[in-house]
Amino acid sequence: MRMNMWTKVLPLVMAGAAAMGAATTANAPTTLKDAYKGDFVVGAAMDAGQIAGTDQRGDAIIQAQFNSISPENVLKWVVVHPQAGKYDFDLSDKYVAFGMEHHMFIHAHTLIWHNQVPAWVFRDDKGNSLSRDALLARMREHIQTVVGRYKGKIQSWDVVNEALNEDGSIRQSPWEKMIGEDYIEKAFEYAHQADPQAELYYNDYNLENEAKRKGAIALIKKLKDEGVPVNGVGLQGHYNLTWPSTQQVDDTIEAFAALGMKVAITELDIDVLPAGGKQPTADVTVHIKENPALNPYVNGLPDAVQQELAKRYGDLFGVFLKDRDAVERVTFWGVTDADSWKNDFPVTGRTNYPLLFDRSGQPKPAFEAVLKAATGPAPGK
Ligand code: XIL
Repeated sequence: MRMNMWTKVLPLVMAGAAAMGAATTANAPTTLKDAYKGDFVVGAAMDAGQIAGTDQRGDAIIQAQFNSISPENVLKWVVVHPQAGKYDFDLSDKYVAFGMEHHMFIHAHTLIWHNQVPAWVFRDDKGNSLSRDALLARMREHIQTVVGRYKGKIQSWDVVNEALNEDGSIRQSPWEKMIGEDYIEKAFEYAHQADPQAELYYNDYNLENEAKRKGAIALIKKLKDEGVPVNGVGLQGHYNLTWPSTQQVDDTIEAFAALGMKVAITELDIDVLPAGGKQPTADVTVHIKENPALNPYVNGLPDAVQQELAKRYGDLFGVFLKDRDAVERVTFWGVTDADSWKNDFPVTGRTNYPLLFDRSGQPKPAFEAVLKAATGPAPGK
């Protein structure tokens, strides 16, 4: 996908020229979107303040650095369709307008998930559980209304989010229990009917772990065999300093690419805080008890950890660049460390440092490491 060799070597040539006393390094990319132009789009998840325009500092960073956006919450069922028969498109309309105004790749998250979906969805007006057919009809109406509204504007959708357990089996969510496993294929079919041009993704966390990855591979193979319109797999990318290994990330991207899937890193962040004894998870229902020992950096990130984070980001972008033919998009789950959900997950009230911009909106060493990784390894290496 990269235009030619020259776009990759040019920054190296410029840096070399500068070292020899030449005039300028002005052509070296200074933004994430330019650094990876021709490889993949680089995105940020927008929160309500950025969408409503009240966080102007955040909006300025998004416009300057990113060429793709995701909605952190405003297109989840509970926000866009809070009551039966009542949709609220106020923020989602603003979100799409922002992306169109700035000519960005507009992604949307998420149609069918077992979290941030109101309880009424699964019940009739007397409070009884819906039948399979009634729930399918409700799912279809929701998907067609929301996808249909943004047809031709939103380029890709997370159609189903987190349908798998850690062992790779299908999660017994209310969708699965009340409809059966084919709720997944139905969701993709309804979304495709509503916008045949939109790219449709299956999105999940921890697919880098072998058992869950195997389950996802089996799921995608089954959907493909049945002719279900699935185009890609989203790796959420809620990582930490040591997990997953770059080898696991590489293997995971390649496994889905081998199935003909596009791959997106959809919610990237790197947790630098103590884990609190659990396996890494992005299950939003997990709550670990607050404890000062789990919150060691309230007064700032020590330089050694800052450098470790930068190296980790550089290494990961090295993998994404290597796999650029498969990777369509890399999206960060937030803009600055102040916005990140990781300040409250899985422990509330912590001071976390998972993103590329610090609490005052300044680029961190990790930002420089990501820019630098775009030039690839030095010649001869
Ligand atoms: C998170 C948001 O960042 C929070 O603001 C919200 O309170 C809970 O959800 N996996 C997903 C995302 O697919 O939707 C979650 O986003 C993070 C984990």
